[in-house]
Amino acid sequence: MERVTDISSLRKRLRKETSIAFVPTMGNLHEGHLSLVRTAKQYADCTVVSIFVNQLQFSPTEDYNKYPRTLEKDCALLKDINADVVFIPNEKILYPETQEFLLMLPPVAHILEGKYRPGFFRGVTTVVLKLFNIIQPQKAIFGKKDYQQLYIVDKMIKQLNLPVKIIACDTVRMHDGLAQSSRNCYLNENQRSESIRLYQTLYQIKKSVEDGNDNFKMLQDNAIKNMIQHNWKVDYITIRQRSTLEPAVFNENNNNLIVLGAAWLDDIRLIDNIEIHT
Ligand code: PAJ
Repeated sequence: MERVTDISSLRKRLRKETSIAFVPTMGNLHEGHLSLVRTAKQYADCTVVSIFVNQLQFSPTEDYNKYPRTLEKDCALLKDINADVVFIPNEKILYPETQEFLLMLPPVAHILEGKYRPGFFRGVTTVVLKLFNIIQPQKAIFGKKDYQQLYIVDKMIKQLNLPVKIIACDTVRMHDGLAQSSRNCYLNENQRSESIRLYQTLYQIKKSVEDGNDNFKMLQDNAIKNMIQHNWKVDYITIRQRSTLEPAVFNENNNNLIVLGAAWLDDIRLIDNIEIHT
């Protein structure tokens, strides 16, 4: 596995490759990320993983400074699973001057995560587009854990005619259901045991809808009430159409729903989602 830190060396290294699958990450790699890399290996001869904590997608009040950085451990994990190239640019390499060209994002980027994290998707799409231009992969692998991110990047690819195909990977969870996340390392022991409530709540909604309950408002309201009773602060718990991320409307032939949630456990914000199959 080769480590590359600058763009010209990366381009030189990738010039001879005919098929490239790319996995963008912010590091502190866990099984979720590694499942993306394993998938990438099935789709191309050369797998490139980037590790870059992208300040542009953090608001000034968010956790950019304390975001876990574990580069040596990350590289050892990637080497173990035979990633081919790891691209580790620094701020100056990716943003040598102030990033003034920014995308105008569609309405779907201003709901759910976009409503609670203004600027987040602009930062994500900007860095992903830059990385696509630098690496020029045929395939890019994203996790369903960040469902709206996956949706928006896919829409960007379609509307900007980028020659990349997205491969979506299922969310990797801990034994008790908690979605793996780089931010889970912020949880203390008590918070860790409480943290599964978000997944359990979403799972109960999924089951109820699959069992025929179509009172979405009641399901959502009860779930939020229950989370609040356990001292969570809920940004949203909502059943949506998978194809638009707009609020779900019940329809007998509708097998295209998803329940998404974001909530705070003390000062730690967790997100999760589960697809519903009716
Ligand atoms: P990061 O949070 O490091 O996630 C990198 C990729 O791993 C994303 O596609 C994310 O959805 C996926 N992922 C994270 N946890 C997962 C899990 N438990 N199961 C499956 N996949 C999981 O998402 C970002 O970084 C950044 O926004 C980025 C796209 C790199 C742009 O900066």
